[in-house]
Amino acid sequence: LDDPNADPFEIARVAADDIARLTGVDHHDIALTLGSGWGKAADLVGETVATIPAPEITGFSAPALAGHVGSVRSIRTPKGKNVLVIGARTHFYEGHGVRRVVHSVRTAAAAGAKIMVLTNGAGGIKNTWTPGQPVLISDHINLTAASPLEGATFVDLTDLYSTRLRDVARMVDPTLDEGVYCQFRGPQYETPAEVRMAKTIGGQIVGMSTALEAIAARQAGMEILGFSLITNMAAGIQTTPLSHQEVIEAGQAAEPVISALLARVIGQL
Ligand code: 6GU
Repeated sequence: LDDPNADPFEIARVAADDIARLTGVDHHDIALTLGSGWGKAADLVGETVATIPAPEITGFSAPALAGHVGSVRSIRTPKGKNVLVIGARTHFYEGHGVRRVVHSVRTAAAAGAKIMVLTNGAGGIKNTWTPGQPVLISDHINLTAASPLEGATFVDLTDLYSTRLRDVARMVDPTLDEGVYCQFRGPQYETPAEVRMAKTIGGQIVGMSTALEAIAARQAGMEILGFSLITNMAAGIQTTPLSHQEVIEAGQAAEPVISALLARVIGQL
């Protein structure tokens, strides 16, 4: 993936073959990326058929971060759908390039997945939200100045976060609110001025993932569903300092409730 002459889609093909061989499941219908706070959801989605350490899959590496799980699982839902659960996200702030960030999404597409469910832990801007609350992503603003698309690849991003899938999620939980996700590069949290900017340009959620992955998923022709767990209010919205520990703890506290929600939504896909 670091070789500019290599074809990232060919590497994703090889990774999908690795997954088929290591799990014994040659086709996945849905892919699910687990962000902070969402780690336990997989257990409720269905029966785990196989768990693979991420580094055994071509192009995958162990996650850099505590609170993130480094495995890929194949789960069969009660209705018989195969779900590829990606517990090993590579963040753009790690500095390994966008190809590595979106490799799991391209691999999921190569494995057959038509629906990409992206989850994350993020900061909230909207003052009616409280930490521990899950929200739907309705759209995004990519503030990374990067793209997974290379060359003259013009991809339409209308209805990127599928209205149909958001409606399915709201059938499961009618109280789900939604907002526009702003992806910053990180790894520092935003300044209060940056959060005011995000609010002014139409954002309600700030985070460090998901937008680049959603672009790659759309390029691959997948339908996308995005969830943010509001782990804390963004800088300047909350008056206390932000800490990674706070983010992890809020994720752990919310985990049972949001995991059950996510499992029920995936059961309806
Ligand atoms: Cl406030 N900002 C960003 N970029 N990511 C976060 C966050 C804030 N809180 C949790 N993750």
